[in-house]
Amino acid sequence: MDNKAILSYIEDNKQRFLDELFDLLRLPSVSADSKFAGDVRKTAEMVKSRLLEAGCDNAELVETPGHPVVYGEKTIDPNLPTVVVYGHYDVQPADPYELWDSPPFEPVIKDDKIYARGACDDKGQAYMHVKALQTMVETGSLPCNVKFMIEGEEEVGSDNLETFVRENKEKLAGDVILISDTGIISNDAPSITVGLRGLSYMEVEVTGPNRDLHSGVYGGAVANPINVLCTMIDSMMDENGHVTIPGFYDKVEELTDAERKEMNNAPFSLDDYKAELDIAEVKGEKGYTTLERVGIRPTLDVNGIWGGYTGEGAKTVLPSKANAKISMRLVPNQISEEITELFTNHFKSIAPDYVKVKVEAHHGGQPSVVKTDSLAYGAASKAFEEAWGKTPIPTRDGGSIPIVALFKEVLEVDVVLLGFGLDSDAIHSPNEHYGVFNFFKGIETISMFYKHFVEMKKG
Ligand code: BES
Ligand code: MN
Ligand code: MN
Repeated sequence: MDNKAILSYIEDNKQRFLDELFDLLRLPSVSADSKFAGDVRKTAEMVKSRLLEAGCDNAELVETPGHPVVYGEKTIDPNLPTVVVYGHYDVQPADPYELWDSPPFEPVIKDDKIYARGACDDKGQAYMHVKALQTMVETGSLPCNVKFMIEGEEEVGSDNLETFVRENKEKLAGDVILISDTGIISNDAPSITVGLRGLSYMEVEVTGPNRDLHSGVYGGAVANPINVLCTMIDSMMDENGHVTIPGFYDKVEELTDAERKEMNNAPFSLDDYKAELDIAEVKGEKGYTTLERVGIRPTLDVNGIWGGYTGEGAKTVLPSKANAKISMRLVPNQISEEITELFTNHFKSIAPDYVKVKVEAHHGGQPSVVKTDSLAYGAASKAFEEAWGKTPIPTRDGGSIPIVALFKEVLEVDVVLLGFGLDSDAIHSPNEHYGVFNFFKGIETISMFYKHFVEMKKG
């Protein structure tokens, strides 16, 4: 097949591809906040139209109790393999807006990077697949069938997608699931993600007195729920960075020394890492490197905490309630539901009798690992070799895409995590961006993946 035609098609259409992506980025498809529900739907409609323009035979919005799933397909020959593409068109909230250098839903290019919420996670990355399809169709090089499943609820836990997948096994049948929603080590060291952490996301409430009190009249005599919550949270991790919830590590898979050594061979500069984050030191579980702490070790973090008075000036109050959102990142073979239960029981058990506590579970998801000896991984590796001139390094990422484990369980096909983001892209943060280079290189790599996958499948 003619790579030249693919490369020149991409080259000739660069501006149009970017313009189209910008249209997508202008829509604030924040799945978590119901005030954006209309924009989320408009985004789904736009994705559907773009799939049809790119060459899909049909595309539709599949309704769910939440935001719609966009499904599209192109069949060239039922006897050929089928690539199933997954991505998400929803984005994280853009708050705090004032920390953005340019408005989050008014995309701009600065220093060869596209700045906008969703530029990398995941509109920019999902859109590479739409443009790769178009490129292959227009250059007569599409070697197989394609199905797209682009959801609108990844950032809120993919609960409805789980139902969609379970109910549509036939419709989603294919030979590989291809996802670009992860990152590479750097543009000099491309990599393929082979591990994602799981998640248990909790919310807690600590209640002290039945109403807010004057902190002078009652302070020192009645427990302050904010102080109590802080003490409880603090007790859940010891000085060695170990989570103290009983049973938390029981199922954690320990890697062999050889596996750990290989992991730490990946190019990584602790100095650059610290400099980029402007921190004097890293902090984590004793006995593990930074790459291990993120890739193969579970952890617990407070994601938000509130209570009392946080407005302007000062208010002397001893609040009635304090709250926190706490998430735990999980690794193989921890099970999200079990960890959620361990947390719940533990949190209740450490509550002193001068407060009442409530524990609620938000979404969760299982960790996943991807085999490196599959045909699909081999094809991805070759695609990188061809497009980047380098053999990609397998890496374990710290983030979570809970639906990946479900795909493997229900659809029983290999998943390839062919992501092109960088840790420095600031996903979920103000000033999220995505390299223009990565966007186009991604389109190229994806097209190469199709070619190698189908060639290798034919044997
Ligand atoms: N694309 C990310 C996950 C990711 C980022 C994986 C970077 C690997 C590297 C995804 O959109 C995400 O943010 N997932 C959430 C979980 C979800 C249940 C809210 C996460 O990891 O916090
Ligand atoms: Mn994502
Ligand atoms: Mn995300």
